[in-house]
Amino acid sequence: MTTNASAPAVVGVIGGGRMGAGIAQSYATAGSVVTVVESGAAAAAAALDRVADGLKRAAERDRLTASPDEILARVSTVESVDALPSEADLVVEAVPEDSALKAGVVAAAEQAVNATTVLASNTSSLSVTELAAVLTRPGRFLGMHFFNPVPVSDLVEIVLAPATDAATVEAALRWTRCLGKKDVVVHDSPGFASSRLGLALGLEAIRMVEDGVAEPEAIDDAMRLGYKHPMGPLRLTDLVGLDVRLAIAEHLHATLGERFAPPRLLREKVAQGELGRKTGQGFYAWR
Ligand SMILES: NC(=O)c1ccc[n+]([C@@H]2O[C@H](COP(=O)([O-])OP(=O)(O)OC[C@H]3O[C@@H](n4cnc5c(N)ncnc54)[C@H](O)[C@@H]3O)[C@@H](O)[C@H]2O)c1
Repeated sequence: MTTNASAPAVVGVIGGGRMGAGIAQSYATAGSVVTVVESGAAAAAAALDRVADGLKRAAERDRLTASPDEILARVSTVESVDALPSEADLVVEAVPEDSALKAGVVAAAEQAVNATTVLASNTSSLSVTELAAVLTRPGRFLGMHFFNPVPVSDLVEIVLAPATDAATVEAALRWTRCLGKKDVVVHDSPGFASSRLGLALGLEAIRMVEDGVAEPEAIDDAMRLGYKHPMGPLRLTDLVGLDVRLAIAEHLHATLGERFAPPRLLREKVAQGELGRKTGQGFYAWR
């Protein structure tokens, strides 16, 4: 990717984990100067390592037009939201999926930046409307739902709260496209479009395993070969993490009703620590 004149000049990312590091890497590659907020020196160093590793992989795949070191020089870390650059054009929070934690960091970020800064949440399922309610300038806030792994994924789901203003939407679309990504715009609703539909398929596939309809491979192949999905819903569940899918299912069950009730088999596997690829066992065994 080449640097892009329509990229935001200055970006803040709160939380430099899997998603935050990917977001930081993507904007730094597009030419933005990026500040990553992490909670403590060790976490900040780990976040920078994740960005460096991501850039190394991108260079190996010939996806960079500048050296990884040159891009990495645009990324720095701080240990408090208060230390975000006030002139940031865009601040994206990517802290863990916990509404109180997210509300705290977006409220603190709003205090640290200018009135024109766009604030975005990378939440996969929480209410953007509820997060906006803690802000004094809710018009400048929206969801920018990036996908994993951020540097190579094609989509950002733009999630509008009722108060999000038109200039904020326009900026978010520009700052999605400057990364070479496509956008879908949705109104705030539990699970948005992607998590709600993706989870519906995933939960039904788990119920089918539970009912003995077929083995996981057969269910996945039915979707992969029959419907041209790049990956079956059970393999995808293993990659996302069964614990992550259970948490989203519980949220959608509470907000949208019985059709999102987590299947017994999903609860059992999570209780047994079979969380998917990250633990070596989910619906598949991973080396
Ligand atoms: N992992 C995915 O596939 C995926 C996909 C789309 C969206 N998301 C969403 O992205 C967000 C982050 O997910 P992740 O997978 O990157 O999680 P993660 O656990 O890998 O990263 C979260 C990071 O936030 C840091 N953090 C925690 N509290 C903090 C604070 N107060 N200030 C600064 N940093 C803090 C942690 O140290 C950690 O590095 C979640 O909302 C998740 O739902 C995840």
